[in-house]
Amino acid sequence: MRVPLVAANWKMNGSAASIDQLLGAIAAGVEGIQSEVVVCPPFVFLAQVQEAIRNGAMLLGVQNINANPGGAFTGEVSTEMVAEFGCRFAIVGHSERRSYYGESDAVVAEKFKACLSANLTPILCVGETLEERDEEMTEQVVSRQLEAVLNAVGIDGFRQALIAYEPIWAIGTGVSATAAQAEEVHRVIRGQLSAKDSEVAEQIRILYGGSVKAANAAELFGQENVDGALVGGASLDAEEFTDICRSAG
Ligand code: PGA
Repeated sequence: MRVPLVAANWKMNGSAASIDQLLGAIAAGVEGIQSEVVVCPPFVFLAQVQEAIRNGAMLLGVQNINANPGGAFTGEVSTEMVAEFGCRFAIVGHSERRSYYGESDAVVAEKFKACLSANLTPILCVGETLEERDEEMTEQVVSRQLEAVLNAVGIDGFRQALIAYEPIWAIGTGVSATAAQAEEVHRVIRGQLSAKDSEVAEQIRILYGGSVKAANAAELFGQENVDGALVGGASLDAEEFTDICRSAG
C-alpha cells in the first residue's frame, strides 16, 4: 500500500506573515488525514516553518539543493544545512530549475545523490515540453531523465525517493494533464523501474504535478499509478490545498 503524499511547492512566494497564516489554515484543514503533507517554502522561511509545524503532522521540504557538501558556492545551500531545520525532502530537477538555471540531467543526478547521502528524500521531477509531447517523444524524454539518475545511483537509490511527473506544458498554465494522460506516463515510469527491481517499483510513490487543483485532484488520485501530487499555485491557497490533500485520502 502506497501512502499518498501531497507536496506544496510555494516557489518564490510568501512573506513571514502570509506563511504563518497559510500554515495555520492548512494545519487545521488537514488534521486527521491519512496522506502525508509536505510543505516546501523558500529557504529563508525554513526556521519559521519548522517552528510552526512542530506539533503537527506536516513535513518539511525544500525546492532545491546544491550537490556539494560545502565550500565556495556563493548563494547556494547544502543538504546538511537544510537537514538542521528538520527538512526531510528536497525537490530536484524541477523544470524551472532545468530551464531557467540550466540544470542538466547530470546535475540533477548529482543533486539526487547528495540528498541520499544526507538522508533527505529526493522528489525527482521529470516531464516533457509541449513540443516534445506533440512529437510523441514524451516517453523518450521522461525515460532519459529517469535513466540519468538510475545510472548515477542505481535502482537502490530509489528505495527512499519520490518521482513527480510534471509535464511542462501543464505547470502554472491552468491546463492539467488529463487523468488518463498522467496515468499513462506514471505507468511508463513504474515500468522502467520495474525492469530493474519490481519491489522498488511497487513501493515508490509517483506524484503528478501541473495545474493540480481541488477540482481535478480526485480524478487524478483515482488512477492506479498516481500516488499524490506536487502542487504549485494552488498550494498558496489554504482552502484549495487542503481540499487537494483531503482528496488524496
Ligand atoms: P502548478 O505548479 O501547480 O502551479 O502548475 C506545479 C509545480 O511547478 O510543481
